Amino acid sequence: MSDTRYLFKRGKTWWVKISVPPSLRPALGYDLRRSLRTQDLETARQARSQVVAEFRERIARARRELDGPTDPKPVQADGYQITAREDFSDVTYLLELSHPMLAEAAQPGQFVLVISHEHGERIPLTIADFDREAGTITLVVQAVGKTTREMQQRCVAGSTLHSVVGPMGIPSQLENAGKTVFVGGGLGVASIYPQVRAAQEAGAYVIGVVGFRNRELIFWEDKFNRYCDQLIICTDDGSAGIHGLVTKGIEAAIEEHEDIAELVAIGPPIMMRACAEATRPHGIKTTVSLNPIMVDGTGMCGGCRVIVGGEMKFACVDGPEFDGHQVDFDHLMGRLRRFIEQEKQALETWAEGLTGAAAP
Ligand code: FAD
Ligand code: FES
Ligand code: MG
Repeated sequence: MSDTRYLFKRGKTWWVKISVPPSLRPALGYDLRRSLRTQDLETARQARSQVVAEFRERIARARRELDGPTDPKPVQADGYQITAREDFSDVTYLLELSHPMLAEAAQPGQFVLVISHEHGERIPLTIADFDREAGTITLVVQAVGKTTREMQQRCVAGSTLHSVVGPMGIPSQLENAGKTVFVGGGLGVASIYPQVRAAQEAGAYVIGVVGFRNRELIFWEDKFNRYCDQLIICTDDGSAGIHGLVTKGIEAAIEEHEDIAELVAIGPPIMMRACAEATRPHGIKTTVSLNPIMVDGTGMCGGCRVIVGGEMKFACVDGPEFDGHQVDFDHLMGRLRRFIEQEKQALETWAEGLTGAAAP
């Protein structure tokens, strides 16, 4: 894919453009742009990062002036401090961590490997937000088994996580593709958010499609409204927005917009497969973020292997994003179930208050 993030052409000359967040537009205007004075794409790409960094600094300065001084929290010697926690439902919770280096390096689409305590198992979690100024990253977790339920109990503001490694994975290849649809289902809503913001900042026309079981489970509607040109909410029970699955929202978006260039979907594999099938007849490029079982996260163990276009890939180092029309979802879903007995046993042992060995 040709990487033209933040670049656009005026006449034959390449320019850099970065969108200004709405709250700062009175001070900085709608976007910041500058000519790179070159007609050569490769030269423009090389010059781009410095200009983007300069623009980001201007935006950060303006934000500091607007918000007043911030007080970055230090990393604890015995782990990474949880600076905030919010519960979205009985099973879904947000953790904000102080980790300035990670916040600085994080890009949309990446994840971290977390070990919550000294004897805990390592689990991958998507970086759902990052704030370079405050030096924090945000994780949104669904309590599904032993480790995520244990974290739900232990991880409160002021406590620490034993280990947080990242950012892992290849960042999303976001470019101003024109009209882009970002689809998040349930927890995937949090995972897709950094991409929504980055696409809007790159000047794309952003359509968000978010799906929840019901109105009570909706979260981050304000954050999505801030960065989406159009936001379509879907609920399984019809208590808010469109009554139905995200595929109904996708159909509505395709019907309204003939010129959708790309769709990115994050959620359970069954949802991502349905999204890929919804776009296939329309020939819309579709990217999905795969969630196979990961162990080391370095491409060494092979645990996260997936089949894409008939080839074996390791989601931790080759992904996690892949062409949704090429993914073998049956293979993925089969592999996600392969330790179900051990996971069940680990959960039971933990629930009984015994210190059982962690399941993978
Ligand atoms: P278990 O009972 O051990 O497992 C429940 C199910 O989770 C299993 O059946 C299996 O399908 C899956 N799972 C178990 N272990 C792993 C593992 N090591 N790696 C991946 N999946 C596993 N979950 C979130 O809540 N929020 C996120 O932001 C998030 N982002 C992810 C990003 C990536 C790249 C990947 C691969 C997974 C992500 N997950 C996320 C899934 C999360 O890692 C699992 O839900 C978690 O590991 C389950 O652990 P458990 O012990 O609580 O449950
Ligand atoms: Fe081991 Fe990807 S997690 S190869
Ligand atoms: Mg587990």
